[in-house]
Amino acid sequence: MNAERKRLVLESWDAIGRNHDRVAVAFYGRLFEIDSAARSLFAETNMVAQRGKFVQMMGEIVRNLDLPRELIPAVSALGRRHVEYGVRDADYDRVREALFAALSAELGDGFTDDVRDAWEEAYALTAAVMKRGAHSGTASPATS
Ligand code: HEM
Repeated sequence: MNAERKRLVLESWDAIGRNHDRVAVAFYGRLFEIDSAARSLFAETNMVAQRGKFVQMMGEIVRNLDLPRELIPAVSALGRRHVEYGVRDADYDRVREALFAALSAELGDGFTDDVRDAWEEAYALTAAVMKRGAHSGTASPATS
């Protein structure tokens, strides 16, 4: 990822300001619309707490795109934990779709083609590292 794209991701995330929870509400709302199986993965989850954890993790990811040595172990471990939550590789595509819908709704005209391309790359990298973590090491094997 080049420096310009990292900047676009970070700036657009920071532009959301105090409305990150609203983005998380839109994200999970959209996800549950397009993926009823994902809804059942979160059946027992406290969604207020979950939104907070998701927003915090996204913040760490966008702030550390420059620091792969810090980012990769944390994101890889996140992917490994997701195996235990019942998440499979194919689920990452619908999460991407839901996240982009939420970002687009929040950023409006600020979600330019360049910003979208930058997020595409950041999300693809994150999902790839999570999946690699899911398929490596100690957790039970992924089923997809
Ligand atoms: C960029 C991709 C993703 C990020 C940043 C992310 C982030 C998180 C975070 C921070 C947690 C809290 C628990 C922990 O830290 O281990 C979590 C839990 C969870 N995530 Fe994700 N996630 C992503 C992708 C996915 C996908 C693709 C699915 C599948 C639909 C998913 C489903 C879940 C479930 C079921 C939980 C556990 C909820 C519970 O504790 O009851 N996540 N996620």
